[in-house]
Amino acid sequence: MPPSLAKRIEGLRNESAFEVLSRARALEVQGRRILHLEIGQPDFPTPEHIVEAAFRAVREGKTGYGPTLGVPELREAVAQYTYQTRGVSVSADRVAITPGAKPMLFFTVLALVEPGDEVIYPDPGFPIYASVIRMAGGKPVPLPLREALGFRFEVAELAERVSPRTKLVILNSPQNPTGGVLGHQELEAIAELAERHDFYVLSDEVYSRLVYDTTAPSIAQLPGMLARTVLVDGVSKAYSMTGWRLGWGVLPEELVPAIELLMVNSNSCTATFIQYAAVAALQGPQDCVAAMRAEFHRRRDRFVDGLNRIPGIRCEKPQGAFYAFPNTAQLDPDDRRLAGRLLEEAGIAALWGSSFGRYGTGYLRFSYATAMEVLEESLERLTAFVGG
Ligand SMILES: Cc1ncc(COP(=O)(O)O)c(C=O)c1O
Repeated sequence: MPPSLAKRIEGLRNESAFEVLSRARALEVQGRRILHLEIGQPDFPTPEHIVEAAFRAVREGKTGYGPTLGVPELREAVAQYTYQTRGVSVSADRVAITPGAKPMLFFTVLALVEPGDEVIYPDPGFPIYASVIRMAGGKPVPLPLREALGFRFEVAELAERVSPRTKLVILNSPQNPTGGVLGHQELEAIAELAERHDFYVLSDEVYSRLVYDTTAPSIAQLPGMLARTVLVDGVSKAYSMTGWRLGWGVLPEELVPAIELLMVNSNSCTATFIQYAAVAALQGPQDCVAAMRAEFHRRRDRFVDGLNRIPGIRCEKPQGAFYAFPNTAQLDPDDRRLAGRLLEEAGIAALWGSSFGRYGTGYLRFSYATAMEVLEESLERLTAFVGG
Protein backbone atom coordinates (compact mmCIF):
# COMPACT_ATOMS: atom_id res chain seq x y z
CA MET A 1 0.00 0.00 0.00
CA PRO A 2 1.44 3.41 -0.93
CA PRO A 3 1.44 6.14 1.78
CA SER A 4 -1.95 7.87 2.10
CA LEU A 5 -2.95 11.01 0.23
CA ALA A 6 -3.61 14.28 2.05
CA LYS A 7 -7.08 14.49 3.55
CA ARG A 8 -7.83 17.72 1.69
CA ILE A 9 -7.92 15.87 -1.64
CA GLU A 10 -11.08 14.07 -0.45
CA GLY A 11 -12.99 17.36 -0.66
CA LEU A 12 -12.28 17.81 -4.36
CA ARG A 13 -14.67 16.61 -7.09
CA ASN A 14 -14.41 16.17 -10.83
CA GLU A 15 -16.44 18.12 -13.41
CA SER A 16 -19.16 16.03 -15.07
CA ALA A 17 -18.40 17.72 -18.41
CA PHE A 18 -15.00 16.04 -18.54
CA GLU A 19 -16.46 12.72 -17.34
CA VAL A 20 -19.13 12.66 -20.07
CA LEU A 21 -16.62 13.74 -22.70
CA SER A 22 -14.46 10.68 -21.90
CA ARG A 23 -17.46 8.31 -22.12
CA ALA A 24 -18.56 9.93 -25.41
CA ARG A 25 -15.05 9.54 -26.83
CA ALA A 26 -15.07 5.85 -25.85
CA LEU A 27 -18.33 5.36 -27.79
CA GLU A 28 -16.82 7.18 -30.77
CA VAL A 29 -13.90 4.76 -30.77
CA GLN A 30 -16.52 1.99 -31.20
CA GLY A 31 -17.78 3.81 -34.31
CA ARG A 32 -20.83 5.64 -32.84
CA ARG A 33 -21.58 9.20 -34.00
CA ILE A 34 -22.07 11.31 -30.88
CA LEU A 35 -23.54 14.82 -30.83
CA HIS A 36 -21.49 16.83 -28.34
CA LEU A 37 -23.65 19.12 -26.24
CA GLU A 38 -21.74 18.58 -23.03
CA ILE A 39 -18.71 20.82 -23.25
CA GLY A 40 -18.95 24.54 -22.49
CA GLN A 41 -16.67 26.20 -24.94
CA PRO A 42 -17.27 28.38 -28.00
CA ASP A 43 -16.79 26.46 -31.25
CA PHE A 44 -15.32 29.44 -33.15
CA PRO A 45 -11.64 29.86 -33.96
CA THR A 46 -9.86 32.53 -31.90
CA PRO A 47 -10.06 35.78 -33.92
CA GLU A 48 -7.14 36.26 -36.27
CA HIS A 49 -5.84 39.56 -34.85
CA ILE A 50 -5.48 37.91 -31.41
CA VAL A 51 -3.62 34.92 -32.86
CA GLU A 52 -1.36 37.32 -34.75
CA ALA A 53 -0.59 39.30 -31.56
CA ALA A 54 0.49 36.07 -29.82
CA PHE A 55 2.84 35.12 -32.68
CA ARG A 56 4.24 38.66 -32.75
CA ALA A 57 4.92 38.53 -29.00
CA VAL A 58 6.74 35.20 -29.39
CA ARG A 59 8.82 36.57 -32.27
CA GLU A 60 9.66 39.64 -30.21
CA GLY A 61 11.06 37.34 -27.54
CA LYS A 62 8.32 37.77 -24.95
CA THR A 63 8.88 34.20 -23.88
CA GLY A 64 10.51 34.53 -20.46
CA TYR A 65 9.04 34.74 -16.96
CA GLY A 66 7.06 37.90 -16.32
CA PRO A 67 5.83 39.73 -13.23
CA THR A 68 3.79 37.44 -10.95
CA LEU A 69 0.57 39.46 -11.14
CA GLY A 70 0.82 40.07 -14.89
CA VAL A 71 2.57 42.36 -17.35
CA PRO A 72 1.76 46.05 -16.72
CA GLU A 73 0.20 46.49 -20.20
CA LEU A 74 -2.39 43.77 -19.52
CA ARG A 75 -3.15 44.86 -15.95
CA GLU A 76 -3.77 48.36 -17.32
CA ALA A 77 -5.88 46.98 -20.21
CA VAL A 78 -8.03 45.00 -17.74
CA ALA A 79 -8.54 48.10 -15.58
CA GLN A 80 -9.70 50.03 -18.67
CA TYR A 81 -11.88 47.11 -19.84
CA THR A 82 -13.53 46.97 -16.42
CA TYR A 83 -14.37 50.64 -16.80
CA GLN A 84 -15.61 50.26 -20.40
CA THR A 85 -17.77 47.23 -19.67
CA ARG A 86 -19.04 48.03 -16.15
CA GLY A 87 -18.38 51.74 -15.62
CA VAL A 88 -16.26 50.78 -12.60
CA SER A 89 -13.05 52.75 -12.10
CA VAL A 90 -10.21 50.70 -10.69
CA SER A 91 -6.45 51.08 -10.64
CA ALA A 92 -4.23 48.51 -12.39
CA ASP A 93 -2.58 47.53 -9.06
CA ARG A 94 -5.78 45.82 -8.07
CA VAL A 95 -5.75 43.55 -11.13
CA ALA A 96 -4.19 40.07 -10.90
CA ILE A 97 -3.72 38.00 -14.06
CA THR A 98 -3.98 34.21 -13.73
CA PRO A 99 -3.84 31.25 -16.15
CA GLY A 100 -7.65 31.20 -16.64
CA ALA A 101 -10.47 32.42 -14.41
CA LYS A 102 -10.50 29.07 -12.59
CA PRO A 103 -7.25 29.63 -10.64
CA MET A 104 -8.65 32.97 -9.48
CA LEU A 105 -11.68 31.18 -8.02
CA PHE A 106 -9.34 28.68 -6.35
CA PHE A 107 -6.97 31.32 -4.95
CA THR A 108 -9.80 33.49 -3.62
CA VAL A 109 -11.25 30.61 -1.65
CA LEU A 110 -7.78 29.57 -0.41
CA ALA A 111 -7.01 33.13 0.64
CA LEU A 112 -10.26 33.71 2.52
CA VAL A 113 -11.80 30.51 3.79
CA GLU A 114 -10.73 28.88 7.05
CA PRO A 115 -12.03 25.62 8.50
CA GLY A 116 -15.57 26.20 9.74
CA ASP A 117 -16.19 29.29 7.59
CA GLU A 118 -19.35 29.20 5.53
CA VAL A 119 -19.54 30.06 1.85
CA ILE A 120 -22.86 30.57 0.09
CA TYR A 121 -22.83 29.56 -3.58
CA PRO A 122 -25.45 29.11 -6.33
CA ASP A 123 -27.11 25.70 -6.74
CA PRO A 124 -27.35 24.52 -9.48
CA GLY A 125 -23.94 26.05 -10.12
CA PHE A 126 -20.42 25.55 -11.45
CA PRO A 127 -19.27 22.39 -9.58
CA ILE A 128 -15.83 23.83 -8.86
CA TYR A 129 -17.24 26.22 -6.22
CA ALA A 130 -18.42 23.55 -3.75
CA SER A 131 -15.40 21.38 -4.51
CA VAL A 132 -12.88 24.10 -3.62
CA ILE A 133 -14.82 25.35 -0.57
CA ARG A 134 -14.78 21.79 0.79
CA MET A 135 -11.08 21.38 0.10
CA ALA A 136 -10.33 24.57 2.03
CA GLY A 137 -12.23 23.11 5.01
CA GLY A 138 -15.14 25.51 4.59
CA LYS A 139 -18.79 24.63 4.71
CA PRO A 140 -20.53 24.94 1.33
CA VAL A 141 -24.00 26.48 1.78
CA PRO A 142 -26.08 26.06 -1.39
CA LEU A 143 -28.41 28.87 -2.43
CA PRO A 144 -31.25 27.46 -4.56
CA LEU A 145 -31.85 29.04 -7.96
CA ARG A 146 -35.50 28.71 -8.92
CA GLU A 147 -36.78 27.90 -12.39
CA ALA A 148 -39.95 29.88 -11.66
CA LEU A 149 -37.78 32.98 -11.06
CA GLY A 150 -35.81 32.60 -14.30
CA PHE A 151 -33.17 30.80 -12.22
CA ARG A 152 -32.65 33.71 -9.85
CA PHE A 153 -32.81 33.23 -6.11
CA GLU A 154 -35.39 34.30 -3.56
CA VAL A 155 -33.86 37.12 -1.49
CA ALA A 156 -35.43 35.70 1.69
CA GLU A 157 -33.72 32.35 1.01
CA LEU A 158 -30.38 34.11 0.79
CA ALA A 159 -30.98 36.09 4.00
CA GLU A 160 -31.86 32.86 5.85
CA ARG A 161 -28.53 31.33 4.89
CA VAL A 162 -26.33 34.18 6.11
CA SER A 163 -24.80 33.46 9.53
CA PRO A 164 -21.99 34.92 11.65
CA ARG A 165 -19.69 32.35 9.97
CA THR A 166 -20.50 33.53 6.42
CA LYS A 167 -17.17 34.60 4.95
CA LEU A 168 -17.95 34.71 1.27
CA VAL A 169 -20.90 34.68 -1.12
CA ILE A 170 -20.24 33.43 -4.65
CA LEU A 171 -22.32 34.81 -7.52
CA ASN A 172 -22.25 33.81 -11.15
CA SER A 173 -24.16 35.93 -13.63
CA PRO A 174 -24.75 35.15 -16.49
CA GLN A 175 -24.88 31.69 -15.04
CA ASN A 176 -23.59 28.21 -15.77
CA PRO A 177 -25.60 25.92 -16.05
CA THR A 178 -28.95 27.76 -16.19
CA GLY A 179 -28.23 30.81 -18.38
CA GLY A 180 -29.90 32.92 -15.67
CA VAL A 181 -28.93 36.57 -15.16
CA LEU A 182 -29.23 38.35 -11.80
CA GLY A 183 -31.05 41.69 -11.74
CA HIS A 184 -30.56 44.86 -9.70
CA GLN A 185 -33.00 43.66 -7.08
CA GLU A 186 -30.96 40.58 -6.11
CA LEU A 187 -27.64 42.43 -6.32
CA GLU A 188 -28.87 45.22 -4.07
CA ALA A 189 -30.09 42.66 -1.54
CA ILE A 190 -26.67 40.97 -1.51
CA ALA A 191 -24.88 44.31 -1.18
CA GLU A 192 -27.04 45.24 1.77
CA LEU A 193 -26.41 41.88 3.48
CA ALA A 194 -22.66 42.06 2.73
CA GLU A 195 -22.46 45.45 4.39
CA ARG A 196 -24.50 44.37 7.42
CA HIS A 197 -22.77 41.02 7.97
CA ASP A 198 -19.36 41.96 6.65
CA PHE A 199 -18.63 39.23 4.11
CA TYR A 200 -16.80 39.22 0.77
CA VAL A 201 -18.42 38.57 -2.59
CA LEU A 202 -16.84 36.63 -5.42
CA SER A 203 -18.58 37.63 -8.63
CA ASP A 204 -17.80 35.17 -11.41
CA GLU A 205 -18.53 37.14 -14.58
CA VAL A 206 -16.82 34.94 -17.19
CA TYR A 207 -19.97 35.04 -19.36
CA SER A 208 -20.37 38.83 -19.06
CA ARG A 209 -20.18 39.40 -22.84
CA LEU A 210 -22.76 36.72 -23.65
CA VAL A 211 -26.11 38.25 -22.72
CA TYR A 212 -29.21 38.29 -24.94
CA ASP A 213 -32.14 40.75 -24.85
CA THR A 214 -31.06 42.09 -21.45
CA THR A 215 -27.99 43.38 -19.59
CA ALA A 216 -26.08 41.72 -16.78
CA PRO A 217 -25.25 44.26 -14.09
CA SER A 218 -22.17 43.64 -11.91
CA ILE A 219 -22.37 43.84 -8.13
CA ALA A 220 -19.10 45.83 -8.26
CA GLN A 221 -21.14 48.73 -9.67
CA LEU A 222 -23.06 49.19 -6.43
CA PRO A 223 -21.80 51.81 -3.94
CA GLY A 224 -19.13 50.44 -1.61
CA MET A 225 -19.09 46.98 -3.22
CA LEU A 226 -15.84 47.22 -5.19
CA ALA A 227 -14.00 47.19 -1.85
CA ARG A 228 -15.42 43.78 -0.90
CA THR A 229 -15.83 42.13 -4.30
CA VAL A 230 -13.49 39.85 -6.19
CA LEU A 231 -14.61 40.40 -9.78
CA VAL A 232 -13.51 37.44 -11.89
CA ASP A 233 -13.49 37.49 -15.69
CA GLY A 234 -11.32 36.27 -18.55
CA VAL A 235 -10.95 35.83 -22.28
CA SER A 236 -12.06 32.15 -22.57
CA LYS A 237 -15.74 32.62 -23.36
CA ALA A 238 -15.86 36.14 -24.82
CA TYR A 239 -13.04 35.71 -27.33
CA SER A 240 -13.15 31.94 -27.88
CA MET A 241 -9.83 31.41 -26.09
CA THR A 242 -10.57 28.56 -23.66
CA GLY A 243 -7.29 26.72 -24.32
CA TRP A 244 -5.11 29.82 -24.05
CA ARG A 245 -5.68 29.91 -20.28
CA LEU A 246 -6.03 33.53 -19.35
CA GLY A 247 -8.25 35.15 -16.75
CA TRP A 248 -8.07 37.74 -14.01
CA GLY A 249 -9.45 39.12 -10.79
CA VAL A 250 -10.13 42.72 -9.85
CA LEU A 251 -9.45 42.52 -6.14
CA PRO A 252 -10.06 44.29 -2.86
CA GLU A 253 -6.75 45.98 -2.05
CA GLU A 254 -5.92 43.80 0.97
CA LEU A 255 -6.25 40.61 -1.09
CA VAL A 256 -3.64 41.53 -3.70
CA PRO A 257 -0.55 40.40 -1.69
CA ALA A 258 -2.24 37.08 -0.79
CA ILE A 259 -3.06 36.33 -4.43
CA GLU A 260 0.47 37.30 -5.41
CA LEU A 261 1.87 34.77 -2.89
CA LEU A 262 -0.47 32.03 -4.12
CA MET A 263 0.57 32.75 -7.72
CA VAL A 264 4.30 32.84 -6.95
CA ASN A 265 3.99 29.53 -5.08
CA SER A 266 2.12 27.79 -7.90
CA ASN A 267 2.46 29.24 -11.40
CA SER A 268 5.13 31.95 -10.96
CA CYS A 269 3.30 33.94 -13.63
CA THR A 270 0.85 33.57 -16.52
CA ALA A 271 2.44 32.80 -19.92
CA THR A 272 3.90 36.10 -21.08
CA PHE A 273 3.07 36.01 -24.80
CA ILE A 274 -0.50 34.93 -24.04
CA GLN A 275 -0.87 38.09 -21.98
CA TYR A 276 0.05 40.20 -25.01
CA ALA A 277 -2.57 38.33 -27.03
CA ALA A 278 -5.08 39.22 -24.31
CA VAL A 279 -4.13 42.92 -24.62
CA ALA A 280 -4.99 42.63 -28.32
CA ALA A 281 -8.29 40.93 -27.43
CA LEU A 282 -9.35 43.64 -24.96
CA GLN A 283 -8.09 46.64 -26.92
CA GLY A 284 -8.60 45.46 -30.50
CA PRO A 285 -11.80 45.43 -32.58
CA GLN A 286 -14.80 44.05 -30.70
CA ASP A 287 -16.95 43.11 -33.71
CA CYS A 288 -15.75 39.48 -33.34
CA VAL A 289 -17.46 39.36 -29.93
CA ALA A 290 -20.66 40.81 -31.36
CA ALA A 291 -20.62 38.30 -34.24
CA MET A 292 -20.19 35.31 -31.92
CA ARG A 293 -22.89 36.61 -29.59
CA ALA A 294 -25.29 37.05 -32.52
CA GLU A 295 -24.71 33.46 -33.60
CA PHE A 296 -25.25 32.12 -30.05
CA HIS A 297 -28.44 34.17 -29.89
CA ARG A 298 -29.73 32.59 -33.12
CA ARG A 299 -28.87 29.09 -31.86
CA ARG A 300 -30.46 29.73 -28.49
CA ASP A 301 -33.76 30.79 -30.07
CA ARG A 302 -33.87 27.82 -32.42
CA PHE A 303 -32.76 25.22 -29.87
CA VAL A 304 -34.89 26.36 -26.94
CA ASP A 305 -38.01 26.66 -29.14
CA GLY A 306 -37.30 23.16 -30.44
CA LEU A 307 -36.89 21.76 -26.90
CA ASN A 308 -40.19 23.31 -25.83
CA ARG A 309 -41.97 21.51 -28.67
CA ILE A 310 -40.89 18.09 -27.35
CA PRO A 311 -43.49 16.51 -25.03
CA GLY A 312 -42.20 16.18 -21.45
CA ILE A 313 -39.55 18.91 -21.81
CA ARG A 314 -39.97 22.46 -20.53
CA CYS A 315 -37.19 25.00 -21.02
CA GLU A 316 -36.87 28.56 -19.66
CA LYS A 317 -35.31 30.90 -22.21
CA PRO A 318 -31.73 31.43 -20.95
CA GLN A 319 -30.76 35.11 -20.82
CA GLY A 320 -27.02 34.59 -21.06
CA ALA A 321 -24.03 32.20 -21.45
CA PHE A 322 -24.56 29.34 -23.95
CA TYR A 323 -26.47 26.70 -22.03
CA ALA A 324 -30.06 25.49 -22.06
CA PHE A 325 -31.23 23.94 -18.79
CA PRO A 326 -34.55 22.22 -19.52
CA ASN A 327 -36.73 20.59 -16.90
CA THR A 328 -36.91 16.93 -17.90
CA ALA A 329 -38.44 15.52 -14.69
CA GLN A 330 -41.52 14.38 -16.58
CA LEU A 331 -39.39 12.24 -18.91
CA ASP A 332 -37.42 10.76 -16.02
CA PRO A 333 -37.01 12.27 -12.54
CA ASP A 334 -33.57 10.60 -12.35
CA ASP A 335 -31.57 13.09 -14.44
CA ARG A 336 -28.35 11.08 -14.25
CA ARG A 337 -30.06 7.99 -15.62
CA LEU A 338 -31.70 10.10 -18.34
CA ALA A 339 -28.37 11.63 -19.41
CA GLY A 340 -26.86 8.11 -19.51
CA ARG A 341 -29.70 6.81 -21.68
CA LEU A 342 -29.50 9.83 -23.99
CA LEU A 343 -25.82 9.14 -24.56
CA GLU A 344 -26.10 5.39 -24.99
CA GLU A 345 -29.40 5.22 -26.91
CA ALA A 346 -29.62 8.54 -28.79
CA GLY A 347 -25.93 9.44 -29.07
CA ILE A 348 -26.45 12.84 -27.43
CA ALA A 349 -23.86 13.90 -24.86
CA ALA A 350 -25.48 16.14 -22.24
CA LEU A 351 -24.87 16.76 -18.53
CA TRP A 352 -27.27 15.78 -15.77
CA GLY A 353 -28.58 18.70 -13.67
CA SER A 354 -27.74 17.18 -10.29
CA SER A 355 -24.04 17.24 -11.19
CA PHE A 356 -24.44 21.01 -10.61
CA GLY A 357 -25.92 20.50 -7.15
CA ARG A 358 -29.03 18.95 -5.68
CA TYR A 359 -31.31 21.76 -6.83
CA GLY A 360 -30.40 20.78 -10.37
CA THR A 361 -32.14 17.41 -9.98
CA GLY A 362 -34.68 16.82 -12.75
CA TYR A 363 -32.88 18.98 -15.33
CA LEU A 364 -30.33 18.46 -18.10
CA ARG A 365 -27.71 20.88 -19.38
CA PHE A 366 -27.15 21.22 -23.10
CA SER A 367 -24.44 23.52 -24.42
CA TYR A 368 -25.52 25.27 -27.61
CA ALA A 369 -21.96 26.36 -28.37
CA THR A 370 -22.01 23.99 -31.31
CA ALA A 371 -23.02 24.12 -34.97
CA MET A 372 -26.69 24.74 -35.83
CA GLU A 373 -26.79 21.44 -37.78
CA VAL A 374 -25.72 19.54 -34.65
CA LEU A 375 -28.45 21.30 -32.66
CA GLU A 376 -31.04 20.48 -35.34
CA GLU A 377 -30.01 16.84 -35.39
CA SER A 378 -30.08 16.72 -31.57
CA LEU A 379 -33.66 17.99 -31.61
CA GLU A 380 -34.61 15.30 -34.13
CA ARG A 381 -32.91 12.55 -32.11
CA LEU A 382 -34.50 13.84 -28.87
CA THR A 383 -37.95 13.83 -30.47
CA ALA A 384 -37.42 10.26 -31.67
CA PHE A 385 -36.05 9.23 -28.24
CA VAL A 386 -39.07 10.66 -26.41
CA GLY A 387 -41.51 9.23 -28.95
CA GLY A 388 -39.92 5.78 -28.91
C1 LIG B 1 -18.97 29.72 -14.30
C2 LIG B 1 -17.60 29.48 -14.80
N1 LIG B 1 -16.57 30.08 -14.19
C3 LIG B 1 -15.30 29.89 -14.60
C4 LIG B 1 -15.02 29.06 -15.67
C5 LIG B 1 -13.59 28.84 -16.05
O1 LIG B 1 -13.15 29.72 -17.03
P1 LIG B 1 -11.62 29.74 -17.51
O2 LIG B 1 -11.54 29.01 -18.80
O3 LIG B 1 -11.30 31.21 -17.68
O4 LIG B 1 -10.78 29.12 -16.45
C6 LIG B 1 -16.07 28.41 -16.33
C7 LIG B 1 -15.77 27.47 -17.43
O5 LIG B 1 -16.53 26.63 -17.83
C8 LIG B 1 -17.39 28.63 -15.89
O6 LIG B 1 -18.44 28.02 -16.48
